[in-house]
Amino acid sequence: MAANEFALELRNVFSGYGEIEVLQDVSISVRRNAIVSILGANGAGKSTLLKTIFGIVRPTSGQILLGGDDVTLLPPIETLRRGVSYVPEGRSNFPGLTVHENLEMGAYIRDDRDGVLADIKTLYERFPILGEKRDAMAGNLSGGQQQALEMGIALMLRPQVILIDEPTLGLAPILVTEVFKAIQDINDGGTTVVLVEQNAPRALEISDYAFVLELGRIRFQGPAQELAANEEIIEAYLGER
Ligand SMILES: Nc1ncnc2c1ncn2[C@@H]1O[C@H](COP(=O)(O)OP(=O)(O)OP(=O)(O)O)[C@@H](O)[C@H]1O
Ligand SMILES: [Mg+2]
Repeated sequence: MAANEFALELRNVFSGYGEIEVLQDVSISVRRNAIVSILGANGAGKSTLLKTIFGIVRPTSGQILLGGDDVTLLPPIETLRRGVSYVPEGRSNFPGLTVHENLEMGAYIRDDRDGVLADIKTLYERFPILGEKRDAMAGNLSGGQQQALEMGIALMLRPQVILIDEPTLGLAPILVTEVFKAIQDINDGGTTVVLVEQNAPRALEISDYAFVLELGRIRFQGPAQELAANEEIIEAYLGER
């Protein structure tokens, strides 16, 4: 097998916040072009896992590999440069700038102006609502539109891997469907997706593979369809929240 069959790998990673240990011996492999879900109850360490991959939280031991390269101790800006985008929980756009300006800001580490404009045009085709709202202030968008913008901003870096934290939290059901569709679309475009979701059934529908975290440890992993059909696991770790 090729060494870089996996877009992303964590090997025996421990990380946390100072004295507080969160991730314990976490090993995860994400196949190229897959959608992989990270599931688990509140406080399980899902957000910490994404922050650790991105470089916001530093592992105390273990290894993180991107396409086979060791990136364990790289800061976020270097992780970005290596093709990983991070969509944190909640909003992180500039509410006082327009949709278009926010997308331009998303490309801040790129210096190919023409390429950036072409990518924004492509994004407007992929997410027509962003095109319609291109001159609207980001702060005036609805929750679902905000989330589409967040993902659009992250895509401006032409990432190979996108890390998305709870994109449907607090959204109306119709918007939830749109967000999941957008994630599938992003994946169809060739981007590997690592998705943290509280909506396990919906996340599993679009995922290839899933990991279940509990108290900072991986308790289960397997093909998404297998997990979706495993009532014991669903009941034990993914019940109604
Ligand atoms: N900045 C921080 N400083 C200290 N402890 C933190 C910090 N952020 C998170 N924690 C702790 O780390 C643990 C895991 O939190 P994390 O946010 O990763 O969980 P989560 O699975 O994303 O939960 P949720 O579903 O609520 O988003 C929790 O016990 C939390 O209190
Ligand atoms: Mg979280």
